[in-house]
Order: sequence, then C-alpha cells, then structure tokens
Amino acid sequence: MRKKLIAGNWKMNKTLTESKLLIQEIKDGVEKIKLKNVDVVICPPYTSLHLASELLKNSNIKIGAQNVFYKDYGAYTGEISAPMLKDIGCEYVIIGHSERRQFFNETNYLINLKVKNALQNNLKVILCVGETLDERENNIHLKIVDEQLTLGLKEINGDGMKNVIIAYEPVWAIGTGKTATPEQAEEMHKELRISLANLFGEEVSEQTLILYGGSVNENNSFNLFKMPNIDGGLIGGASLKTESFLKIIQSIIN
Ligand code: PGA
Repeated sequence: MRKKLIAGNWKMNKTLTESKLLIQEIKDGVEKIKLKNVDVVICPPYTSLHLASELLKNSNIKIGAQNVFYKDYGAYTGEISAPMLKDIGCEYVIIGHSERRQFFNETNYLINLKVKNALQNNLKVILCVGETLDERENNIHLKIVDEQLTLGLKEINGDGMKNVIIAYEPVWAIGTGKTATPEQAEEMHKELRISLANLFGEEVSEQTLILYGGSVNENNSFNLFKMPNIDGGLIGGASLKTESFLKIIQSIIN
C-alpha cells in the first residue's frame, strides 16, 4: 500500500515571526494526531526554512522547499541550490509548480534539469503538472499533462522514481476556490498512473504517489482522498490556517 502524503505549500507568505507561530501551532496539532501511514510536509518560503528545520527537529513533520536551481553552486545570482537545501534540513522540493511555469516562464526542459539535479542531491521531488482552463475546454488536458510528466521525468530511471512524487494541480483550480470534482481528479490520476506504467513499468507506477492540489480544504478533502488513485494533497491556502490544515490531515487518516 502506498504511504499517503499531505504537503503544505505556503507560497510567498509568512515572515519569520509569522512562520514561527504557524510552525509551532502545526507541530503541536500534529503531535496530537496519530499519523498512520501518512507523511506530513510543510514548504515555507526560503527565508523560513532554517527556522522550520530547527523547530521541527524532533517532530514527524518534514520540510520542503518550493523551488530549486539545477546547478550545485556558482554564479547564478538569486538562486538556491539543492546542496544548500539539504544542508539546512530540507527533504523535499516542489518543482514545476504552475505559478513557476506561468510567472517565471519555466519550461518542461528547465523543470527536467531541476528534477535531475535535485534527485542527484537526494532530495525528494514533488513534480507538479496540470492543465489550464483553456486546455481543458479544448479537450487537450490529458495530452498536456502527459507531456509535462514525460518531459519533466526525461532521463529519470525506475530507481530515481523512488524519490519522485507527482502532484496533479489543474491551474483553473489553484487559489480559485474551484476544485476538480473527485471524479475529474481521479480520471487524471488514473491517466497519470497509466503514463507512469508506460514510462517505468507497472511496479514503479503502483508505488508512485500522485497528489491532488487546487483549492483543497477541510470540506472537500475527504471525498478527494478516498479516490483510489489520489494519494494525498498539495495544499496551498488552507495550509496557512492551522485548523484547516490539521483537519485535512485528519481526513486522510479517517
Ligand atoms: P491552493 O494552492 O490550495 O491555494 O489552491 C495549491 C497549490 O498551488 O499548491
């Protein structure tokens, strides 16, 4: 059975002081939940990662970054490398989020370079894929997402896939309050599993986690998570509210 995963993507939110408060609240809350077959990850902004790592040292909450560069070091002003993230206690990194694709022109090629470098540095990669509303309305959503998956994972082998998690996040559902229905999400997750099987074989496909993301909250999470191919969630807005985030974690256990 695949272990489930709930990851909170804080995006560009929370100062250091605000982060401290939220991390402490989440930590206290998660301590009271019996985390059965589920991992919890939080992905604060870079500026709060070291603090998170200090505060969560002896907890069962893991830390992820929201982005990474594809070289280990060098003259790349403003970038952060995978060794730097490892060094401060990051275990996960989100790569290819639609906001990076949209606002920073990240291409499948660039995303693939990042995935390869992050894996070489022993980070677990949460690779985001997802179509825009326009693409869905033109009925090319399956093709687009399959392309993002295939190109993003180019030159990765079955062994590398042990550290890859896929997050399906339809762009039209991110931050809009419009969630994909459990059936819509499940349809895409099933397609993704077929694509993974074509690329890496049945066994890898069966063991790979596929998360859903896009306006997940405490009211819709239970119905999404009970779908057979949805292995957890990448949570944006609701991960900034302790009560909502804890309820979402609860909903995957129950
Ligand atoms: P949202 O964001 O939950 O606020 O829609 C999800 C994400 O972008 O990861």
